[in-house]
Amino acid sequence: MAELGHEVLGVEIDDAKRAALSAGRAPFHEPGLDALLATHVGTGRLRFTDSFAEAGDFGDLHFLCVGTPQSAVGLGADLTAVVDAVESLAAQLTRPTLLVGKSTVPVGTAARLAERMAELAPVGAAAELAWNPEFLREGFGVEDTLHPDRIVMGVASERSEQVLRTFYADAIAGGTPVVVTDFATAELAKVAANAFLATKISFINAIAEVCEAAGADVVDLADAMGHDRRIGRAFLNAGVGFGGGCLPKDIRAFLHRAGELGVDDAMSFLKQVDDINQRRRAQLVQTATELLDGNLVGKRVCVWGAAFKPGSDDVRDSPALWIAGQLQLGGAKVIVYDPQAAHTARQVYPTLEYAGSSIEAARGADLILHLTEWQEFRELDPAEVGAAVARRVLLDGRNVLDAPAWRAAGWTLRGIGRRPA
Ligand code: UGA
Repeated sequence: MAELGHEVLGVEIDDAKRAALSAGRAPFHEPGLDALLATHVGTGRLRFTDSFAEAGDFGDLHFLCVGTPQSAVGLGADLTAVVDAVESLAAQLTRPTLLVGKSTVPVGTAARLAERMAELAPVGAAAELAWNPEFLREGFGVEDTLHPDRIVMGVASERSEQVLRTFYADAIAGGTPVVVTDFATAELAKVAANAFLATKISFINAIAEVCEAAGADVVDLADAMGHDRRIGRAFLNAGVGFGGGCLPKDIRAFLHRAGELGVDDAMSFLKQVDDINQRRRAQLVQTATELLDGNLVGKRVCVWGAAFKPGSDDVRDSPALWIAGQLQLGGAKVIVYDPQAAHTARQVYPTLEYAGSSIEAARGADLILHLTEWQEFRELDPAEVGAAVARRVLLDGRNVLDAPAWRAAGWTLRGIGRRPA
């Protein structure tokens, strides 16, 4: 927002994160973000505080960007942070303001929050709410924020729409499509998009199982399907499945909310989407065990990748780490290497061993698992890695390594849903 020319005050109540941000550093890995933070903290256009009173004083327009993780007691979303932030800010709103929700929330949340704001804000109904979900992808957060592919505005008044149109004027002038709608549709537009993406991934992973049984190749098949413009090639990459802080918890929260609304039958396929995704992980552990002659005990397994996807140090619900953890529980010695996520992975799985490079992790390995498709893994020399391992056996859980090149260097390489060599 500072890059777009706005004066910005960020509220962050975690002291360590606020200190990093105030020093111009993101508290997580996101390409391009540190440079932007450093620039705009430097110019003074971007500042951070822990004070809602200061925020209330400062802003005409507030964005609510807090997380909505899966509840500790079920499938639904935990809205504690959203409610706390709205209540803390509302109490400070003494002049007409627009609060814009960006967090992913169960449908119906915005309507409730709007009522709560009107109750708490000293300015009353002049403190308005709008819902404007974000669709940015981790690893492309800067790009997707500066150049969104659509802007969804869930609004309750003409004034709110005008404020948002002014805020997004550059993107709109640049041709970004705008959908103006009500709160409920805007909330659903986000969860439905994530549910669709998750369904696409589980669809191709289910097809991958059929390919394996039928001796077909899921990558050729996805290419063939993807040429159909109605389908598209994106999100048809079979592999260890989806993870992260969004897709898994969003489909569960959607399913949960559908149940509350009495339409659980309509959304029951999402349970299958989740099950297919979980099964992929378990099947990979099984295939790894087979490649180790049915016995994990004492075997050395190298895992390339810990983040839930490349370009991020986020390990929330990461397939790579889940698989690494299961193999360790089965008795294997697991050595993990990730270009960015070792520090976050260590917090969740401190008992795994972490190496400083791909080759170091591979040293003496009986099996290598490629589970997060960082570009650097594609650039490795199969002969050099071959000289480090005990056995040249590689399971490509993302189907992106150059199989012919690895096989030519004497490797046994298996993919997911790939034609057998
Ligand atoms: C996802 C959505 O793509 C964003 O549009 C949305 O804004 C965001 O969630 C959110 O709700 O905040 P993200 O979690 O960053 O973004 O990650 P994705 O790029 O969607 O990937 C999710 C998972 O699917 C990753 O584990 C990735 O490896 C996996 N994936 C993706 C596949 O297994 N196959 C594919 O073909 C594509």
